[in-house]
Amino acid sequence: MSPLLEIAGIGKSFGAFRALSDISLAVEEGETLGLIGPNGAGKTTLFNVVTGFLRPDSGAVRFAGAPVDRLPPEKRAALGLVRTFQKAMVFPALSLRENLAMAARQRAGHGLRWLGARTCHAEADAKVERLLAESGLPRGGGERMADLSYGEQRIADLLMALALEPRLLLLDEPTAGLSQAEAERLLRIVRRHDSRTALVLIAHDIDIVFGHCDRIAVMHLGRLLRTGTPQAVRADAAVRAAYLGSLAD
Ligand SMILES: Nc1ncnc2c1ncn2[C@@H]1O[C@H](COP(=O)(O)OP(=O)(O)OP(=O)(O)O)[C@@H](O)[C@H]1O
Ligand SMILES: [Mg+2]
Repeated sequence: MSPLLEIAGIGKSFGAFRALSDISLAVEEGETLGLIGPNGAGKTTLFNVVTGFLRPDSGAVRFAGAPVDRLPPEKRAALGLVRTFQKAMVFPALSLRENLAMAARQRAGHGLRWLGARTCHAEADAKVERLLAESGLPRGGGERMADLSYGEQRIADLLMALALEPRLLLLDEPTAGLSQAEAERLLRIVRRHDSRTALVLIAHDIDIVFGHCDRIAVMHLGRLLRTGTPQAVRADAAVRAAYLGSLAD
């Protein structure tokens, strides 16, 4: 079977600066892939290309067996290729429940339009209630987004993405600024919601990445340096030189 996501030969420059060089990478159905590398390595840029927010200069992206290069971000999301942002895109004056309802209803509209809006909305609203229950957030998501604590906002970002029913979820530093316990809790929410969702996780917290990922891809200066099991990557001399050098064994 072909992989869920196939990235082949992606290149991207900003002016004279080469942000991505010949990146090829596959993500299998259901796996958790960690994407690590120093600041400026090109991790977010790669997410932007894969999700259609940036057009690459070269290369191709296939998702679920079909090319998606010509599709805008929302069409890719409708196929199940969904990302979170380093900074979330939500309506801060609305409650989390309201933000989630909009995302879920939009999602439902893609597949169930013929059933009529009311059925769509009922199903979408039920999904929102399930997400809020799974999240363990206090006050049931009724608070304004702007009033959530930092940790709660990171969970809210995640729920917004899950409301779109991803087959592959690209998480861009979802655990930045969280305590180890909060980070673990956030990742548990994803797995509890749907254990079959494939994940690509960008994080600088090495314990989180090595603890939760099946495989790890290491980027450095716009290139893919290594891809392998956590063990193999941790032991790799080039990886240690570029990124993990200060790590104790
Ligand atoms: N729109 C843009 N225009 C010009 N340069 C950009 C643009 N987007 C990213 N870059 C540059 O490309 C390089 C890679 O950036 P990117 O955000 O992908 O890195 P990253 O690996 O996500 O880093 P971090 O860990 O700090 O988030 C950086 O040098 C960045 O300044
Ligand atoms: Mg980044």
